[in-house]
Amino acid sequence: MDIANFARRRARAAEMLGEDSALIVAAAPELHMGLDGEVRYQPDASLYWLSGFTEPEAVLVLCPSSEWPFVLFVRPRDPEREVWTGPRGGTEAACAEYGAHAAFPITELSDRLPRLVGHVDTLYARIEYGRPVVDAVVLAMLVASRRSRPRTGRGPHTLVDPSVLLDPMRRVKDAAELAAIGEAARITVESFHDAIARVRPDAGEWEVEAALESGFRTRGALGPAFPTIVASGPNAVTLHHTSNDRRMRAEELVLMDAGARAAMYCADITRTVPVGGRFTPEQRALHDIVLAAHDAAITAAVPGGTVADMHARAVRVLTHGLVELGLLRGGIDELIESGEYRRFYPHRTSHWLGLDVHDVGDYVEGGHDVPLEPGMVLTVEPGLYIPVDTDAGPTLLRGSGVRIEDDVLVTEHGPDVLTRGLPTDPDRLLPLMH
Ligand code: GLY
Ligand code: MN
Repeated sequence: MDIANFARRRARAAEMLGEDSALIVAAAPELHMGLDGEVRYQPDASLYWLSGFTEPEAVLVLCPSSEWPFVLFVRPRDPEREVWTGPRGGTEAACAEYGAHAAFPITELSDRLPRLVGHVDTLYARIEYGRPVVDAVVLAMLVASRRSRPRTGRGPHTLVDPSVLLDPMRRVKDAAELAAIGEAARITVESFHDAIARVRPDAGEWEVEAALESGFRTRGALGPAFPTIVASGPNAVTLHHTSNDRRMRAEELVLMDAGARAAMYCADITRTVPVGGRFTPEQRALHDIVLAAHDAAITAAVPGGTVADMHARAVRVLTHGLVELGLLRGGIDELIESGEYRRFYPHRTSHWLGLDVHDVGDYVEGGHDVPLEPGMVLTVEPGLYIPVDTDAGPTLLRGSGVRIEDDVLVTEHGPDVLTRGLPTDPDRLLPLMH
């Protein structure tokens, strides 16, 4: 991604910080498998969003009133370790390639951070498990300031979670981010075409998982954005079924929920098809209800709309369908009011999508639903799940589930379905199975 994008975001963050605040964002250390195998590192999303820097353990500091408004603390060069885990940029690259005004080895954090930001009133920093050194420095600054502030009139007295500042900005995507999400969506759509062609009676769920993830990597994605879900028959009732260890049967449905991470950004698609290539009338009815809910929710993904309204529209269509199928009895309004529908639809309809698959950003602020704005990207993913022990509705549907999920960009001209390259209408989707 163009380095200028990161500089623009830092400039916006700096404007919000002002002269009396500093922002500290720390990346997690590496995780290991067994004694000394490294788990592939997942860079810190906010640190990346502000700098493009992806190495473990880095700490980013923005402090507009400091001599160096943008500082990176990074792992120092270490030729011995680099033999095993690859080159490190060190402090030099932090300045030359990422534009830091100054960069220091992470080992100097406790000494240098108080000198960099010890004069501000407010620290935007997170106290979190797994980063004891950063936590200790931040707490030490607060304690030191409590003692010195009465006489100096300066020093941190307020600690604010960085998400308060960063998440509302990350919630609206810029052009570079939209290009990355578009790439992840394209790769996911194409890989679903591969995977759907692999669905057949007696195939293992793992074969469809392999087709999806092979498709992601073959097309240049970093890999799956979250554990791939391939849930046949009763497994679909488990919303995040990820063991993918069952052979699917001809008369069942199979629910596939997967997304690629490409250029750091995520996509997230779900489709449900009949394993044998044809829906029974009952399965088709269930799918049609979920598709109607999906379409109704997408229509509401417009500027000024809300995620809550999209959800309410989906719930109404689903509840109506549950009554028609004989799974629920009663008036639609009462069934919605009482939450009865949740027996078959226990999750929400949408989540933000971006650097994280369930991306950051509140849905409610100051007691009000956040109005949708152009540049926001969210999933639309209604579903219905009929547990095996359900004692109403068609017997044939017990132990099955349908979810249909697309990724939608809110624009001034209405919803832009980024994943529309993969049909939702069974008449166009099922032919991909052959
Ligand atoms: N695709 C998994 C989820 O959204 O929870
Ligand atoms: Mn999702």
